[in-house]
Amino acid sequence: MRVIIEPDSHAASRRAARFVAELVRKKSDCVLGLATGGSPLGTYQELIRLHREEGLDFSQVTTFNLDEYVGLGPAHPQSYRYFMQQNLFQHLNIDPTRTNLPDGRALDFDSHCRQYEHKIKDAGGIDLQILGIGADGHIAFNEPGSSLGSRTRLKTLTSETIRDNARFFGGEDKVPRLAVTMGVGTILESRQCLLLAFGPHKALAVRDTIEGPITAQVTASALQLHREVICLLDEAAARLLVRRDYYADVERAQSLLEAGQMRALGIGGT
Ligand code: PGA
Repeated sequence: MRVIIEPDSHAASRRAARFVAELVRKKSDCVLGLATGGSPLGTYQELIRLHREEGLDFSQVTTFNLDEYVGLGPAHPQSYRYFMQQNLFQHLNIDPTRTNLPDGRALDFDSHCRQYEHKIKDAGGIDLQILGIGADGHIAFNEPGSSLGSRTRLKTLTSETIRDNARFFGGEDKVPRLAVTMGVGTILESRQCLLLAFGPHKALAVRDTIEGPITAQVTASALQLHREVICLLDEAAARLLVRRDYYADVERAQSLLEAGQMRALGIGGT
């Protein structure tokens, strides 16, 4: 895992957007995995700015979102489809037919989930998956105890997640009890993951994810098995990490490599 710690969430979000923009420029028909919630908002704002001011072109990009609440249609203000329209899609030149989210109002969820997985495969797989993390260490709606090999399916939300999200719905009793979510196994198949975590309430989950054992009790910890994960954190979310100094050393070496300053790293010297 590459762990990048920025002073605040704005700097981290700009950095995240640069990773996404680099991919979109390099591979104009790339497949992005997208997330909802507070964590990716700053990244989306920066991508919108890059589109408006620098012409970053999304016309060939395909997207797959991680999850959707069961029972909510696209016009419901708390549905994730609505969130994506408001916060990203309507501000970009993205083709609406290339934006995919699970359907919270599917009639046959088993077949819908299978189709969602097929659609991802047919699109060539996800090149880069953006992820937030729950205070309990979940990724997407893969709550503690979810199989680390799980695929897109229905998932019952924990009382903690329902409590966390009640503020958006005006009360816990209004939060849907079920969601459709990509599985941990689905997420692990994406070529690259960008995990975003900001704020002191994420510090424990971040520590367990990056430095704890791999366990289904913290589904984000499965990312330790992935070959290419970048964790973008602010200071507050990183404050419980034990190996912070080492992560900073790695970033310094990485910057020198990217700047071609090989000699500073002892490469090619005599
Ligand atoms: P947040 O949610 O980005 O709104 O903090 C993350 C999550 O619960 O997965």
